[in-house]
Amino acid sequence: MASSLGIRCPKVDEKNNMHSESFSEASEESEKGVHRMEFKNLLFEVEDGVATITFNRPKALNAMNTETMKELMDAATLCKNDDAIKVLILTGSGEKAFVAGADISEMQNLRPKEALAFMELGNETLRLIETLPKPSIAAVNGFALGGGTEISMACDMRFASETARFGQPEILIGLIPGWGGTQRLSRLVGMGRAKELIMCGEQVDAKRAYDVGLVNRIFPLDQLLPETKKFARKLAGMPGFALKMAKHSINYGYDLALDNGIRLEMECCAQCFSTDDQKEGMKAFLEKRKPVYTGS
Ligand code: CAA
Repeated sequence: MASSLGIRCPKVDEKNNMHSESFSEASEESEKGVHRMEFKNLLFEVEDGVATITFNRPKALNAMNTETMKELMDAATLCKNDDAIKVLILTGSGEKAFVAGADISEMQNLRPKEALAFMELGNETLRLIETLPKPSIAAVNGFALGGGTEISMACDMRFASETARFGQPEILIGLIPGWGGTQRLSRLVGMGRAKELIMCGEQVDAKRAYDVGLVNRIFPLDQLLPETKKFARKLAGMPGFALKMAKHSINYGYDLALDNGIRLEMECCAQCFSTDDQKEGMKAFLEKRKPVYTGS
């Protein structure tokens, strides 16, 4: 089954990592240009080239269990494969939580081998989001603790409500972060601040998160999603291949020696010259008009 956006509802797609269980729950509808696909613990809709995935386990403050993580993997895979989706937003349902972490009730009695599998699933999913060939934004609408902060850090940008709270409180329950927190937090805010946050397990509010560079923008709660969508639509109208190259160069250049990173950037920049959008962008500039990008 395929929508005009090319969103498919596959039963099992091993090549693309799809999990049949969650898709047996999935259904698809289309109304007034909004395309929805329903999962058990996620809401998924696409409008104007912007996909919005909403974590939706309100009883557990959107905590991530295995089932929800598999659904996130499937939804992110759809976003990766559908060229009509230009930008991804992740957010949480309700007014209280983005994601209150990995599901503690599921983790409580895990043995190390099972814990490792739980962490591997989460990390595979977050790495998929981090390396999507299109931009992603976390719209953090409340508690983003533990795995919640980690999911937000796998996105390219974090927009927060004034009510948002971030933190890696795993130490308070005898753990450390397991979905990349020790790695991504130190890259985003520096090692000293990351160690303080992870070792003390304290929460920070949106203002503090903004001050340390964890958050890009802050909005009143009722404006968070509309403003994030507005920003995402703007990104969706930009030259898609150039966005992909910018992300690739930043992601993969970050850990390289400077000379190698600059070489990577040059190659990515040079590749943009193979696109119609580059020709159109420069032509429009010289003709003093707005460019019309086609994504090719
Ligand atoms: N896992 C499972 N259930 C959770 C949860 C979680 N991470 N966070 C909240 N819940 C559940 C609560 O158990 C509670 O359920 P019941 O109503 O059935 O009792 C419900 O959500 C509401 O939560 P609270 O009553 O605790 O709400 P509150 O307003 O008093 O507190 C909170 C909100 C500060 C977010 C608090 O719920 C909290 O501290 N949650 C846990 C945060 C946490 O430690 N996250 C890290 C998890 S470990 C991790 O993520 C590992 C990793 O890196 C992968």
